[in-house]
Amino acid sequence: MQELAPGDLERLLTASLAARSKAYAPYSHYAVGAAVLDDQGGVHAGCNVENAAYPQSWCAEATALGAMLMAGGKRAKAVLVSGPGPDIITPCGGCRQKLREFGDDDLLVIAADPSGVKHTWTLGQLLPASFGPDHLTNNPTKPS
Ligand code: THU
Repeated sequence: MQELAPGDLERLLTASLAARSKAYAPYSHYAVGAAVLDDQGGVHAGCNVENAAYPQSWCAEATALGAMLMAGGKRAKAVLVSGPGPDIITPCGGCRQKLREFGDDDLLVIAADPSGVKHTWTLGQLLPASFGPDHLTNNPTKPS
């Protein structure tokens, strides 16, 4: 398990809920915020962005990971995803794989809603036996 520094949970919750308030979700009306903690202690937030051509929509986690990269962040230690409740939000399958690109099995995935934190998993629990960048690095048929 990753250890969060004192105050990090509060920073993540505040950033995720603020991002959620910016969600563009006119079709589902399901506003989502995500805040990623990088390995330098930076917090990067994003919201879901829907589209009239429904499959072109993207999730809050994708926006937050893009923000991390744009700020120079390289690796994710934790992500706090916030939804409307009452059901505990959990990252979709595609977002689990996107998180896997920038985090290890011990990346913390924290679920929240406007009333606070509801649940914590590790990415390894949500995406066991995952396919990741090492599969490509370790490919013996890769031209050198
Ligand atoms: N959504 C996210 O932003 N993240 C998730 O992990 C789950 C789903 C968004 C996508 C869509 O805009 C809305 O929630 C309803 O599916």
